[in-house]
Amino acid sequence: MRRGEKVVGVNVLGVAGSPRRGGNTETILDEVLSGAREAGASTEKVVLAEADIRPCRACNACSRTGSCVIKDDMAAAVEKMEAAGVLILATPVYWWGPTAQMKAFIDRWYGVPREAFRGKRVILAVSSGGSGSYAELTIKMIGEIIPYLGMENYRTLQASGANSKASAQGNSKLLREAWDAGFNSVKTLTEYKSRI
Ligand SMILES: Cc1cc2nc3c(=O)[nH]c(=O)nc-3n(C[C@H](O)[C@H](O)[C@H](O)COP(=O)(O)O)c2cc1C
Repeated sequence: MRRGEKVVGVNVLGVAGSPRRGGNTETILDEVLSGAREAGASTEKVVLAEADIRPCRACNACSRTGSCVIKDDMAAAVEKMEAAGVLILATPVYWWGPTAQMKAFIDRWYGVPREAFRGKRVILAVSSGGSGSYAELTIKMIGEIIPYLGMENYRTLQASGANSKASAQGNSKLLREAWDAGFNSVKTLTEYKSRI
């Protein structure tokens, strides 16, 4: 592919896990999406706090029928996920882990056939009020799930010391990193897919 040439037919899905609109994780997420669009991708964003995604009930019906008994917004989110080549998971650290919204979303993957995940590229964006070490368990947890489901841990973007809502907005290095991750994840997707 020549320089400046746009990639066609790639969808990128951003999943915003913070209940705070316009905060640090959504700022990073939007920057990744902006880079992806510049590379030619179509982008979409699911804001979990504004969606009706209920927790897994462990009824195990999915293992018998292949689908979830809970009728909420998860099915639409899964359809978008299936159509995407790149997935961005953005969550703040809440008590060392992801937010309840992000955890509920990931728990519901239990009922999603494995083929829906395989070969996707994932960019993880995590922000914490404290130092980077507060994000370690969240990054480790999600970072283990991604390859377990056959996806690629493409980049992890981390905003630490992000105490105020606008902390990430003032971090031009991180925003550049986020934009680049979005741009390059799309630009090199075909080459990555040919390798797996
Ligand atoms: C309920 C709650 C729990 C939090 N727990 C932690 C924590 O364990 N460690 C930490 O460093 N920051 C913690 N924070 C701070 C957030 O991770 C931080 O402010 C983050 O940048 C918020 O992201 P957002 O702007 O996208 O909402 C917590 C915030 C809330 C509201």
